[in-house]
Parts: sequence; structure tokens; C-alpha cells
Amino acid sequence: HRIMELIFGWVEADRGCIMLVDPDTKKLVPKVRRTRGGARTEDRITISQTILDYVTQRKEGVLTSDARDDDRWNPAASILKAGVREAICVPLQGRYDVVGIIYIDTSVTPREMLQHGTVNKFTEDHLKLMVAIAHQAALAVEDTRYYSAMVQAERLAAVGQTIATLSHHIKNILQGIRGGSYLIEMGLSQHDESVVSKGWKIVEKNQNKISALVMDMLTFSKEREPDLRPADLNEVVGDVIELIESRAEEENVRLEWRPAEEMPQLVFDPEGLHRAVLNVVTNAIDATAEREEGGRCVEIASAYLAGEGKARITVVDNGLGITADQMSKLFSPFVSYKKGRGTGLGLPVSQKILNEHGGRILVESEPGQGSRFVLEIPAVSPGTGQHRVGKDEG
Ligand SMILES: Nc1ncnc2c1ncn2[C@@H]1O[C@H](COP(=O)(O)OP(=O)(O)O)[C@@H](O)[C@H]1O
Ligand SMILES: [Mg+2]
Repeated sequence: HRIMELIFGWVEADRGCIMLVDPDTKKLVPKVRRTRGGARTEDRITISQTILDYVTQRKEGVLTSDARDDDRWNPAASILKAGVREAICVPLQGRYDVVGIIYIDTSVTPREMLQHGTVNKFTEDHLKLMVAIAHQAALAVEDTRYYSAMVQAERLAAVGQTIATLSHHIKNILQGIRGGSYLIEMGLSQHDESVVSKGWKIVEKNQNKISALVMDMLTFSKEREPDLRPADLNEVVGDVIELIESRAEEENVRLEWRPAEEMPQLVFDPEGLHRAVLNVVTNAIDATAEREEGGRCVEIASAYLAGEGKARITVVDNGLGITADQMSKLFSPFVSYKKGRGTGLGLPVSQKILNEHGGRILVESEPGQGSRFVLEIPAVSPGTGQHRVGKDEG
């Protein structure tokens, strides 16, 4: 439309139209029509096929001042029947191909010609400039098409990548369950309870994994209203510690939990916060996997900051830290640096939960030294009536 405005502002055309080649059918499809009086029009414009063929096949612009005198046209051709006296048609010549055409015309009746003299409305200069405009426009059209094709391809690649990551993860869990079940079966047939209980532990661990994965996927995929109610943040974090303790012990990670001494009942989504804290603590434990000197250590602390109106959970580890490159994609879904053992959902999900509360997650890290994750929520007291923080009433 802008191109049409431009052209009409500068040449005395009666009608104009831009047609683009459909990438699939290779046919010209009208995109913009305009007439002199009304700005944009839905009225059909008949364009002689002769001109269209000439322009698209020869890939050159054409100015026809009087169809009958112009020996490029067969007098019987459609240009005469359409009654066109003057027309300019130029190809939208891009880098690779003709992506369409721009056409303008004006019809001069014999009476008009007598009144105004036989001055041509369209000149070679008009044609030259139209060719230049058309070339620029074609480049823009090509860029847009190229870009949207890229976006489409990227989206498909992302879906494939997502499915690959998830399948791999689920496959690992299934393998774990199969291994555990095998042990249980063996223990049962040998009447050896210790083998049964070993197998059961493996099954249980993998059950937790798959339910965590499903919860993460659910939290991530839908627009969820946080289930806000009065709860005790220390209790929520305490539950996470209890859940993760046995794993930490198994892996020789020293878990240090320092609950805030003063922690009033606050309004938040206890299940959501549980998920977020669990994800961050799990990551912290994972991060310490290769630490040798000084031992693996994860410290968790809570704090109530009455002055700032915030509550805060801090998780510090002495793990491998986060590089600047990783940091930039830390919260992107399905980005994991755990060699296929992670889903990359933990942090985006946790961030979503904190955002739903009007809170945030802060990260500091020194590669090789460790990381510090801070989960912050606004401290909303029960009974203040202010229980929809960050949402429509917030
Ligand atoms: N405490 C941490 N120390 C070092 N790297 C971390 C830490 N927490 C998260 N990361 C990095 O962020 C990535 C994304 O984390 P997350 O979204 O939980 O996915 P996942 O744990 O499934 O890999 C992890 O793969 C890891 O590389
Ligand atoms: Mg994680």
C-alpha cells in the first residue's frame, strides 16, 4: 500500500495494482489495488495478459503510450479491448527471481486528448523510476518471505528438538523403572527382602522423576492461576529439604538449611513454590557433582524482609558455576547442559511460578566456584485483602 501511495503521489495514474507471484502456484495474485479517486479499491482491474506475459517473461518494464502504434503488441491482443491508452508495467525483480509486478494505467479518451493536447501522461522517466522502486520493493518482499520461511523452519526444528529431549529423558526414566522392577522380581523369587527393597528404591526414585517431569510440563504449558493461600514458607522449603535429603546423603552432598527465625504466614502458592525451590535445589546438587576438594555443599536459607516487603529463599552451591554463554540461555525452555540428563524445563518453570507471584529469580555465579540463586516473592500478609499480587488487581 505504501508503494502504491508513493507512485500515485508522483504520477498521474488512474488505476494501479501490485501483483505478487504465489510461491506455491507460481501464479500472479493481486495484492494491492488502487484507483485515483477512492484510495484503495476492491474493484477488479483488468490487466491485459499480453502486458503481464511480456513483463514476467522478459523481466523488463514496459511503457505503452498508445497501444495501436506500438508494434510490440499484436493489434488484436487484449490491450486494445481493455481500452488502455497508457500503461506502465514493471517486474518486481528481486535477487533471484521476479516476485511480482507493479502496474499502473490511465485511459485518455479522444475528447480529453483534444482538450489537453496529446501530452503523454507517462514518460520514459516514469518508467525508469518505477523499475527502480519495483526492484527495492522486490528485495523487501524477498526478505520477508525468506524470513518467514526461516521462522517456520526454526519452529519445526524446535519442536523436533523438544520431542527428542523429552523422549530421551522419559526413556531413561523407563529404563530405571525396568531395572528396579527386575531387582524386585529377582528379590521376590529368591525371597531376599534386601534385593526387593533395593529395587523398590530405584522404582520410587524414577517415579518421582517422571511425576516431576509431568508437573514441570503442566506448569510450563498452560496459563495457570497460582493457588494463593496463607502458608508458611519455612515449611514449604523444609518439605523440599526432606524430599531431597536422601539423595543428597547418597551423593555425599552436605545440605545446610537455615530457616529464617521470623517467618510470618504469607499468601502464596505453596505447591508452586515447592516446585520452584525443588528445581533450584536439585540443580544446585547436580552442579556440585564434580567437586572434590572441600566436599560438595549446598546451603539453603530463607529470609523475611519486613522493610522491603519481601520474602526470599537463597540457594548457594559450590558447584561448577555458570558460564556467561550458559547464563544467557539459563531460563530458555529445553536448554540443558547436562548431557542429555536434563530436560531444561526446571528453571523456566521456576521462573514462571515466581513471575506469577510478582516475584523473581536472581542468579549470580562464578564459573568454577559456584552459584547463588535467589527466589523472591512479595510478602503478602493474610487478611490485608491484597491477595492477587501481580495479577489484574495487583
Ligand atoms: N546451580 C547451578 N549451577 C550450575 N549450573 C546450573 C545451576 N542451575 C542451573 N544450571 C544450568 O542451567 C541449565 C538449565 O537448568 P534447568 O532449567 O533446571 O534444566 P535441567 O536441570 O533439566 O538441565 C542446567 O542444565 C545447568 O547447566
Ligand atoms: Mg533442573
